[in-house]
Amino acid sequence: MAVKEIRVGLIGYKFMGKAHSNAYRQAPFFFPDIKARPVMKAICGRDKAAVTQVAQQYGWESVETSYRKLVQRDDIDLVDITAPGNWHTKMALAAAEAGKAVYCEKPLANNLADARLMLQAVRKAGVINVVNFNYRRLPAIQLARQLIEDGFVGTPYHWRACYLQDWIIDPDFPLVWRLDKRIAGSGSLGDLAAHSIDLAMFLLGDIASLASLEQTFITERPRLAETTGGLTAAAAKGKVKVAVDDAALFVCRFANGTTVGTFEATRFAAGHKNFNTFEINGSKGSIRFNLERMNELEVYDRSDPEGHQGFKTILTTDPSHPYMEGYWPPAHNIGYEHSFINVIHDLMNAMAQGKGLDPDFEQGVKVQAVLETVTKAAKSKKWEKVPQA
Ligand SMILES: NC(=O)c1ccc[n+]([C@@H]2O[C@H](COP(=O)([O-])OP(=O)(O)OC[C@H]3O[C@@H](n4cnc5c(N)ncnc54)[C@H](O)[C@@H]3O)[C@@H](O)[C@H]2O)c1
Repeated sequence: MAVKEIRVGLIGYKFMGKAHSNAYRQAPFFFPDIKARPVMKAICGRDKAAVTQVAQQYGWESVETSYRKLVQRDDIDLVDITAPGNWHTKMALAAAEAGKAVYCEKPLANNLADARLMLQAVRKAGVINVVNFNYRRLPAIQLARQLIEDGFVGTPYHWRACYLQDWIIDPDFPLVWRLDKRIAGSGSLGDLAAHSIDLAMFLLGDIASLASLEQTFITERPRLAETTGGLTAAAAKGKVKVAVDDAALFVCRFANGTTVGTFEATRFAAGHKNFNTFEINGSKGSIRFNLERMNELEVYDRSDPEGHQGFKTILTTDPSHPYMEGYWPPAHNIGYEHSFINVIHDLMNAMAQGKGLDPDFEQGVKVQAVLETVTKAAKSKKWEKVPQA
């Protein structure tokens, strides 16, 4: 059977634009049995000179400067959205209306109402829809899920997630788009906690109710002079108010009726660079993960003999571990970019069969519902129920 082709149009060309471009190139390289090949048809950005330069660097056939033109093109099957959150809804709605499959960066939108609009639009159009919670597709996370399904942790009692960074701790760091409520919707909450929430739901199911707090430590920052990407910036004269959370913390009950959880997301944890961690403690054992050591999964088995008990570290780089047969000989690490390559591998295989891929927009809406409830509970100072998708 001839390998199908999926013709891709990508919106955005900086951090995530580069990560996604690399994934389209590398997925067929590492997984030659992939069932559909991504064809890198067009990349879209508003600055023609800049987007033309990266099109060559990343390997795209053509450029567009209007996302509306891109989604209308007859030679595009899949629209990939890597613009900041304030654009996700407009872009996804336009793509769905044009009958294109949509692959959108996280968080799905900047608020629950917009996320629901996106879900309605893709359902109405009957198009494939995926939200990019890429950490799900790390071998260690897939192994964690297998272990939970096999009963390794028993009844899960505790979920404990921390997503800690420190790149905005300097009060003179300017108001980049990730700190601008009109563009990002929220601060650490949507940027970091969104990932932890998706992982929690992937591993333990839905979150039912929560109580929270949000804190903005630096309430005014220098205006942005110029930016070279989402994470680096120069300051201009004058200060602007910060309207997003610098830190968001919450406690929750899961819908399974047993598990209780804590979440902490901050970009003010000096010394922590990308400390995306969780721990699950159950009746039979524990599992813990740290993105800074992403090839490892730590496990504790209560049935180990007395005197031999303790956490052990599994290096998830055997060919038997999820995705690893595509990469290197046993025990050779993979990196950050491979989570994106694994997503594209799975998305191409699903689309070759006319199927969608999890997490889809419904899951994106569920995460958005938790994010919005965190902000609601921080204001009400009460326990709040998470609304249905
Ligand atoms: N999955 C992950 O691990 C992960 C990591 C980082 C960012 N993200 C998400 O990806 C998205 C983008 O983040 P980033 O770090 O790549 O930002 P970035 O600032 O590096 O890049 C954003 C890109 O969007 C383009 N853009 C903005 N408005 C546009 C428009 N109207 N039309 C066309 N292009 C437009 C910009 O030119 C730029 O190329 C956000 O939703 C963010 O939350 C996800």
